[in-house]
Amino acid sequence: MKGGVIIFLISVVCLFASVQCKNRDPLRELLKSHKKRRSEASAVVEDASTEYSPVYMLPQDGLKEEDKITGLPGQPPVTFPQYSGYVTVDPTAGRALFYWLTEADDSSNKPLVLTRVFLDRKWRDDRAWAVPCERRRKDVVSPAGVGFSYSNTTSDYVTGDTKTAADSYTFLVNWLERFPEYKTRDFYITGESYAGHYVPQLAQLILKNNKVTNQSVINLKGIAIGNAYIDYLDEINGSYDYYWSHALISDESHDGIIKYCNFSAPEISDKCEQALDQADDEIGNIFGYDIYAPLCSSNSTAPSLSSFDPCSSDYVFTYLNTPEVQQALHANISGALPGPWDACSNLISWTEEPETVLPVIKELMASGISVWIYSGDTDGVVPVTTTRYSLPKLSNTIKTPWYPWYYQGEVGGYVVGYENVTFVTIRGAGHFVPSYQPERAIAFFSSFLEGKLPPSS
Ligand SMILES: *[C@@H]1O[C@H](CO)[C@@H](O)[C@H](O)[C@H]1NC(C)=O
Ligand SMILES: *[C@@H]1O[C@H](CO)[C@@H](O)[C@H](O)[C@H]1NC(C)=O
Ligand SMILES: *[C@@H]1O[C@H](CO)[C@@H](O)[C@H](O)[C@H]1NC(C)=O
Ligand SMILES: *[C@@H]1O[C@H](CO)[C@@H](O)[C@H](O)[C@H]1NC(C)=O
Ligand SMILES: *[C@@H]1O[C@H](CO)[C@@H](O)[C@H](O)[C@H]1NC(C)=O
Ligand SMILES: *[C@@H]1O[C@H](CO)[C@@H](O)[C@H](O)[C@H]1NC(C)=O
Ligand SMILES: *[C@@H]1O[C@H](CO)[C@@H](O)[C@H](O)[C@H]1NC(C)=O
Repeated sequence: MKGGVIIFLISVVCLFASVQCKNRDPLRELLKSHKKRRSEASAVVEDASTEYSPVYMLPQDGLKEEDKITGLPGQPPVTFPQYSGYVTVDPTAGRALFYWLTEADDSSNKPLVLTRVFLDRKWRDDRAWAVPCERRRKDVVSPAGVGFSYSNTTSDYVTGDTKTAADSYTFLVNWLERFPEYKTRDFYITGESYAGHYVPQLAQLILKNNKVTNQSVINLKGIAIGNAYIDYLDEINGSYDYYWSHALISDESHDGIIKYCNFSAPEISDKCEQALDQADDEIGNIFGYDIYAPLCSSNSTAPSLSSFDPCSSDYVFTYLNTPEVQQALHANISGALPGPWDACSNLISWTEEPETVLPVIKELMASGISVWIYSGDTDGVVPVTTTRYSLPKLSNTIKTPWYPWYYQGEVGGYVVGYENVTFVTIRGAGHFVPSYQPERAIAFFSSFLEGKLPPSS
């Protein structure tokens, strides 16, 4: 490998945070850089070590009370408790991950869900506040350097999949000391986009450590990943097939891709590269995270097929960079955050990323935990086609054939129950399903937590 380390594009981090990047598509950038250096990248996740090395643990007494949120600027009155703050995962380097917990009104036996944060325009909308009432959710922002998470050691900002999983695990073990009442609770992990990598990797680490740990056993019951980047070959191939089938690119460029591209080859041929470039140009300037949404910069008065506001990330940026909000959230308490809160950190170099996590997901499926893979069907960044190319590689036994699922008398999407893995689409949703179709998202998410397939009527 040239130069010693693989440095992926700094913007990759964007994929980990809560909202879309402005004017950037980090996953496409990642794939482009990946395509160029394919021959040099590591192939699959190594899971060599079976030995448990105890994770760092800090006394957590009294920290829970300090983390309680007493009021948030602009938030309508809520009855459920909320907590947010930092959990140190490496005291020597000074690395800490930020979390935000919203409890259910009656939370005594509800499951605990680790997920990405989603905030958007509906932040001030009462309906959106009903979400946390239903389930207790815990949001953690990782890796350090994204959102409010940070490190006092600059070299920590060169990171990758393995370090992110390890930090998240250390975070969880310490967080459960801070909130010991959750130790035995059913635990689920969900996430979207690049979480297709880091959710399965964290779940794998939890299951592995559960077998040997003398620290916290985490009661992991399931994972759900949405519009998930799982496999490089399926991602690149499935994306162009989606563009063609959704009338975004010409027959000529699509035919060229089929004829000249061999994505498994170490080098991409010039003719393939040309066909890909042509296709990319043909798409024009659309909002990739939802191919039917308007652009944030648009003055168009044409009715939109999508009710999503593509300027959401601007509102979130403004809100989370308001000093009173940061104070209320106990963020940036030590003034250690190097720059403004941003969904897309420019600080981070992503140096390690396996080409596929299919083997990891297969391992999870065989472990008996619940594995759901969902997809908003108007996303152009990790389109539903990419997921459909991966599914037969995970399971070729269909237990419940394709059927439409319903919410409030409308088709909410479609379901296929494979052996050990459930596939669900959410109709009319973009890249981050809950931001585009909040009601349908809650409906299917409730089914996931109840361990039932979404309703067929
Ligand atoms: C980072 O440095 C600041 C300033 O010295 C300190 O207050 C903070 O506790 C450090 N963070 C961690 C996680 O150790
Ligand atoms: C857990 O095991 C490690 C070594 O494997 C040991 O150093 C540590 O003291 C043990 N902790 C407890 C609480 O028993
Ligand atoms: C893309 O995947 C489909 C389905 O697996 C396959 O038929 C096709 O040949 C692939 N195309 C390329 C360019 O790899
Ligand atoms: C694509 O590349 C791979 C790896 O070099 C090779 O094994 C395969 O035969 C190629 N496929 C075609 C259709 O040329
Ligand atoms: C929208 O209107 C403003 C003011 O008329 C103009 O400056 C801007 O360029 C327009 N934006 C687009 C995308 O046409
Ligand atoms: C955190 O506080 C420091 C010092 O007050 C400030 O320079 C920095 O911009 C703040 N970070 C954020 C995210 O607002
Ligand atoms: C499903 O799980 C069972 C039991 O753990 C395992 O034996 C089987 O191989 C798994 N099948 C698939 C397709 O993952």
